[in-house]
Amino acid sequence: MRKALVAGNWKMNGSLAANRELLSALSGAIHGSDAVAVAVCPPAVYLPDVVSQLQGKPISVGGQDCSDETAGAFTGEIAADMLKELGCEYVIVGHSERRARQQEDSAWVARKFIAAQSAGLVPILCVGEQLDDREAGRTEAVVAEQLDAVLDAAGVAAFDRAVVAYEPVWAIGTGLTASPEQAAEVHAFIRARVAGRDPRVADGLRILYGGSVKADNAPGLFSLPDIDGGLIGGASLDADSFIGIVNAAAAVQAQGNV
Ligand code: PGA
Repeated sequence: MRKALVAGNWKMNGSLAANRELLSALSGAIHGSDAVAVAVCPPAVYLPDVVSQLQGKPISVGGQDCSDETAGAFTGEIAADMLKELGCEYVIVGHSERRARQQEDSAWVARKFIAAQSAGLVPILCVGEQLDDREAGRTEAVVAEQLDAVLDAAGVAAFDRAVVAYEPVWAIGTGLTASPEQAAEVHAFIRARVAGRDPRVADGLRILYGGSVKADNAPGLFSLPDIDGGLIGGASLDADSFIGIVNAAAAVQAQGNV
């Protein structure tokens, strides 16, 4: 059985005081299990403080982005090695907000994925379609392009040490969630696409769902066979909501469904 992952993407939110309050609530309630891994991805400036507060706790830490370069004249960028040095285990690459605002294309995202792995981080590769793509029947074509760019550049074996997050852009921060059927369809498509290159890698690959996941819709999503946890934005900033989502993943795992 694949171990589920519930990762909180804090985006550009938080403060030293608010983070400490949130993390103390999370570490009081999340005790670690063999069935569910938990991670938080704070803004990079807070990483040292977050890592030190989570020392010895069963909650991992991730970055929200990394450079595709290792060092040099890249003002404002953060190298994957730096995230690793600070204690990160994961890094999100290709989030739709960055694909849109920073115009990161799939080739660039693939280079970030490779840079992350070279530094020993586990990339969480985000893929997902816009609403007009879905309405035009282009969901699979868009997701395939985003996925294939990384498969081609990094090789399928690299997905042994990676996580994919399917995040329909129209469901992020909007309160709209993909229906379990819509999500299940794309998750199965992603797994089949990877299986086309290597069935063993596909079988072990964790594919998270992201987009307005809350404690109340999490059980329905996480109980689908190809959904192995979630990438949580808004609800990861509220301790009770995030703990509820982690508990939902644990309950589904206990039933042996994920
Ligand atoms: P959301 O964000 O849960 O606020 O929709 C998810 C994400 O963007 O990772």
